[in-house]
Order: sequence, then C-alpha cells, then structure tokens
Amino acid sequence: MFNSFTRSSTPFVATAAALWTAGVLFVACGGDADSPTSPSTITTPTTTTTATTTSEGTTTSTTTSTPLANVNDIKPVLDSDCVACHSPRLHESNVDLSTYASVMRVVQAGSSNSLLVRVTRSNGIMYPNLTGNRAAKSELIRSWVIDSRAAETR
Ligand code: HEC
Repeated sequence: MFNSFTRSSTPFVATAAALWTAGVLFVACGGDADSPTSPSTITTPTTTTTATTTSEGTTTSTTTSTPLANVNDIKPVLDSDCVACHSPRLHESNVDLSTYASVMRVVQAGSSNSLLVRVTRSNGIMYPNLTGNRAAKSELIRSWVIDSRAAETR
C-alpha cells in the first residue's frame, strides 16, 4: 500500500519540480526587466592600475588616467545644458560657452577657483542647469579643469 502510494506520487513531484524551475526562470527574467535602463552618455575618467611583479619579486605599480578633453567630454555637456543661455547670441553675464576660446575666459587651467568650476559645483548657481546625472557632470567639469588642465583635445 505504502509502496504503491510512493510510485503514484512520483509524477506529481516531477511536475512540482518543473513548476518550481519555471518559477525561478520567471523571477530571473522579471529581475532583468526591472534593472535600471537610464542611458548615460557621460564619460568619467577611467583609471587603470597595472601591477607588475619583476623577477626579483618586487612589485611596481603604474597608474594611468585617461585625460579629459574639451571636444570629447566637456563640449557635449556645455552644448546640451549651457549654450541655450550662454552663446554669442544670448550671453548671460557676458559668458559665452559655445567655443573653446570663449569657455577659456571662465577657466584657469588647473585651478579650482575657475569661475566655470565654481558655478557648476553642487552648491554653484549653475549646478541646477546640469541635466541628468548632475553630480557626474559636475565632477567631469572639475576634473577636466584641474586634472586635465582644461585640455582642448586628447
Ligand atoms: C536658463 C538659462 C541658463 C542656463 C541654461 C545656464 N545659465 Fe549660466 N547664467 C544664467 C544667468 C541668468 C546668469 C547670471 C546669473 C547672475 O549673475 O545672477 C548666468 C551666469 C553664469 C556664469 C557667470 C557667473 C558669475 O558669477 O559671473 C557662468 C560661468 C555660467 N552662468 C555658467 C553656466 C554653465 C556652465 C551652464 C551649464 C551647466 C549654465 N551657465 C547654464 C543663465 C543660464
């Protein structure tokens, strides 16, 4: 009697296992669909550290940072968020951010005191004009002026 019960219940167990597996797959797919999809076109500086172990057993480490450049990293941000009010046509506060030469009037390469850096800090007056990932764009501008010394190109 007990043996026959066990045998007849086997298909049920197999079905339950199949349903469980399907449930897991469903949850996995659902999780994918919920993952953040916000597009980001912001380039943040990448730092690559390469550790090299010499034959003597000493380890040297080389750190290289990708430099930021106006044409690649900064101009796209200024064009999208700033030029509407700071162009040769409409230049609020006499600030024109449409060309590298005019941007450099509010930038001192290497200086955190640059007007461009001050107005785009998180407490700066132009920070709210940054769209999307404000913090990342603010850091991008700061790093460009200070770490990359406001380079025009790479
Ligand atoms: C909606 C229009 C508008 C946008 C967009 C805008 N600004 Fe301005 N900006 C102004 C106005 C208005 C002033 C003058 C503010 C004042 O003097 O109180 C100004 C002033 C400035 C100044 C001079 C500040 C000073 O103390 O002389 C700088 C630099 C500046 N903006 C940079 C930027 C940057 C960088 C962006 C993009 C993130 C930006 N602005 C986006 C309207 C704008």
